[in-house]
Amino acid sequence: MHNFEWNLPTRIVYGPGQLARLGELTKTYGKRAFLTTYPKKEKRAWILDKAISSLEKEGIEVVLYDLIEPNPRVTTVDEGVARFLESRAEVLVALGGGSVIDATKYISSTAYNGGSSWDYVVLAYRKPRQFTGSYPIVAVPTVSAAGSEANAGGVLTNWETREKSFSRSAYRIPKVAIIDPEVIASVPRQVTADGGVDIFSHLLEHYLTSPQESEIADRISEGLIFTLMEHLERALENGNDLEARGQIALCALLGWSGLQALGRMGSIPIHYIEHQISGHYDISHGRGMAILLPAYLEYFAGVRTERWAKLARRVFGIVEGDDVKAAKELTRAVVTWLKKIGMHIRFSDVNIGSEKFERMADDIIRMYGQEDGRVPGPRPMERSDILEIFRRSL
Ligand SMILES: [Fe+2]
Repeated sequence: MHNFEWNLPTRIVYGPGQLARLGELTKTYGKRAFLTTYPKKEKRAWILDKAISSLEKEGIEVVLYDLIEPNPRVTTVDEGVARFLESRAEVLVALGGGSVIDATKYISSTAYNGGSSWDYVVLAYRKPRQFTGSYPIVAVPTVSAAGSEANAGGVLTNWETREKSFSRSAYRIPKVAIIDPEVIASVPRQVTADGGVDIFSHLLEHYLTSPQESEIADRISEGLIFTLMEHLERALENGNDLEARGQIALCALLGWSGLQALGRMGSIPIHYIEHQISGHYDISHGRGMAILLPAYLEYFAGVRTERWAKLARRVFGIVEGDDVKAAKELTRAVVTWLKKIGMHIRFSDVNIGSEKFERMADDIIRMYGQEDGRVPGPRPMERSDILEIFRRSL
């Protein structure tokens, strides 16, 4: 286990109906709130209405910014920064999935620090600007996936350069996260499944790549994977199963909070690769992860064999005693699960061909490559490794 620091400063407020407490929980941070969300959809309009009335009930003035798209773009965020500064709001309320919460983090911290949100995004070929502060954020996740409601990360897409990358800053970790299963229950089945695969991938990334051993992190991750798999099936069967929705929401929150990697932080190669797919094609991140997972697991099974085998045995009940064979079984077990939840998909299922494979592989090396030009993973990944994973996912 390596040395670490871990702090979860977000106040987690859980329970069906807790959205009604938004105003009460926000008023500590200011009297004018900049409320960020997606463009209004009639089906889920009640959530926004309830959020606004809760804020107004506590005497908080609401300035609405409802222009945030999935895979949020620099242009949208920078426009949000200008509107936020104009509004003179003191606190931001993010009501949406990972896209809205990430965008809100960039609006908040860029407004505090100046410049464009893209200046702060991590790219291997330049030195990003560092945030030195942020305005307070209250997050209400409407989707269980990214875990952004209680961590320092944020992903942003530059549609002009087709680059999608991230930054981390403890300043903009949300002060409060309201996890209301009634809100999340309104998410369509497909979004639930996409989010489930994203959570699953978060629990795998460090587990499979870290050179360190930390049994507690392994056990936490395994427990979260079990909980996720069991309750995802329930939520897909019955979207109004609030207990299942709540359990999945906590898997999302804890699964990308750092808790799942205590003492054995590794790297996030599937994310490095996927970001360029959704950066170029604007598909959902969870679908991108589902496309890549089988090929990634199969291709690198022989590299960190003992980690692959451990996961196969501990979570998927593989009894094979030989590590090499058990590691290979992992892919099959994960594919079986993906099929069960209707997420065994390939590039062809989302109408993506091989036309941009070379360009995307170049992007990944340029954006995430270390000094030797290779990208961190189970072993340092070359361009040819990435291309092979793309090809196997066609
Ligand atoms: Fe993710």
